[in-house]
Amino acid sequence: MGFGWGALWAGAAALLLPPAAACWGLALLALLAGAAWLACRPLRLWRGPEAVGYVGEAGWSRAQVAGRVRKSRRTGPLPPVYPNGWFRLLDSAQLARGEARSVAALGEQFAVFRDLNGQSYVVDAYCPHLGANLSVGGRVVGSCIECPFHGWLFSGKDGKCTRIPYAEKVPEFAKIKVWPTCEVDGMIFVWYHCDGVSPTWQVPEQEEVVSGAWAFRGITEHFVNAHIEEIPENAADIAHLSFLHGPCIMSGVDLRHTNSKFWKFIRHNWKAEWQPEPEPDTHCSCLIVKHNITVFGTCIPLLDVTVSAKQIGPGLVFLFFKHSFLGEGILIQTVTPVEPLLQHVVHRIYYQRSIPGFIPKFMLWAEKVQFERDIMIWNNKQYLSKPLLVKEDAAIQRHRRWYSQFYSAHSVKFTSQKNGLDW
Ligand SMILES: *[C@@H]1O[C@H](CO)[C@@H](O)[C@H](O)[C@H]1NC(C)=O
Ligand SMILES: *[C@@H]1O[C@H](CO)[C@@H](O)[C@H](O)[C@H]1NC(C)=O
Ligand code: FES
Ligand SMILES: [Fe+2]
Repeated sequence: MGFGWGALWAGAAALLLPPAAACWGLALLALLAGAAWLACRPLRLWRGPEAVGYVGEAGWSRAQVAGRVRKSRRTGPLPPVYPNGWFRLLDSAQLARGEARSVAALGEQFAVFRDLNGQSYVVDAYCPHLGANLSVGGRVVGSCIECPFHGWLFSGKDGKCTRIPYAEKVPEFAKIKVWPTCEVDGMIFVWYHCDGVSPTWQVPEQEEVVSGAWAFRGITEHFVNAHIEEIPENAADIAHLSFLHGPCIMSGVDLRHTNSKFWKFIRHNWKAEWQPEPEPDTHCSCLIVKHNITVFGTCIPLLDVTVSAKQIGPGLVFLFFKHSFLGEGILIQTVTPVEPLLQHVVHRIYYQRSIPGFIPKFMLWAEKVQFERDIMIWNNKQYLSKPLLVKEDAAIQRHRRWYSQFYSAHSVKFTSQKNGLDW
């Protein structure tokens, strides 16, 4: 329980004291302080793999339906499941100096640790000696991590074993796998490439985020049961904007009700264009979205927003907001494959400090509502390698061609078989 809740409770309790002016004054002060603190706090929201996008039925809980849908999903030929590129593993704030944590993603088990100087490293979680899990009791020593089993010490820089407490000599081949990593914009990324190729591009720094000129205003986390490519492909799927995201956000996220008559008088209108970027940024693409809101067909000019979304590699998007008087900021989306058909999606918003926090928090919440509608589609859909497209859908095919650059000959494939799953 944070300060805000504490103050609210204290305020409520003070109301029970004798009704003297001083007591009531105290109560009011505590209530106001609590409310103000809560209003300033960043928005935080976490939704597990079964929380969104499934519909319970008679006798079936939502989790049971989720399990059934995942098992019975029809998967045709899928693109490889782990593209090559940078993927978020943790937020910087989740890893203290001297701390080691484990993260499972991309079919790998990573141990992420931070030395006392603040530098972070990513290595395999299993010790190559006898296979202990380094993130369970592994100790950070200088820029190395010490295995909790026999005390072997591995450098986070090159993976070399620098000490075996009981051995005369450390053999040359004693090494742990080190993964290329970078820490940018408040996140720790790993570079994944199926052939071990070194990074071919970098995660860009957003100057206002790094300098703190834009304040952190919130984070949402979702787990999506779908192939990773479904999520970025949404950007090139212009036609779904009006249909799926047109109904007013007040009508909610459950697609059975979003078209309810009651909210028909408010609509979101969208206009969008998706383009790959030219050399040397061919790993990037750009989506320009113009959005406005109409009430009884009349536009509310205050809510016109133009968002430019820059997709950077297979699992990172910067959405830039710029508004004539609501200021500017950035929404950062990361997608990390946890399993072949399970994606961890994180949205974080940073906004100009001079703009009251509730505005970016509302934007993040509105994005969450629209995103959860997409999740309801993704969780229950099939990936079609040969979709039935019309001329107006052409950007989807262009997006598939563009995204295929993140796969290579040895990328991990997924095949579904009658008797269980194989990959
Ligand atoms: C290592 O241990 C941590 C903490 O219990 C756990 O979350 C993680 O999955 C383990 N990693 C492996 C590779 O088993
Ligand atoms: C609102 O958006 C729609 C769709 O992009 C567009 O046709 C319309 O002109 C916009 N209205 C205003 C007032 O900008
Ligand atoms: S298993 Fe890690 S030191 Fe032995
Ligand atoms: Fe969408």
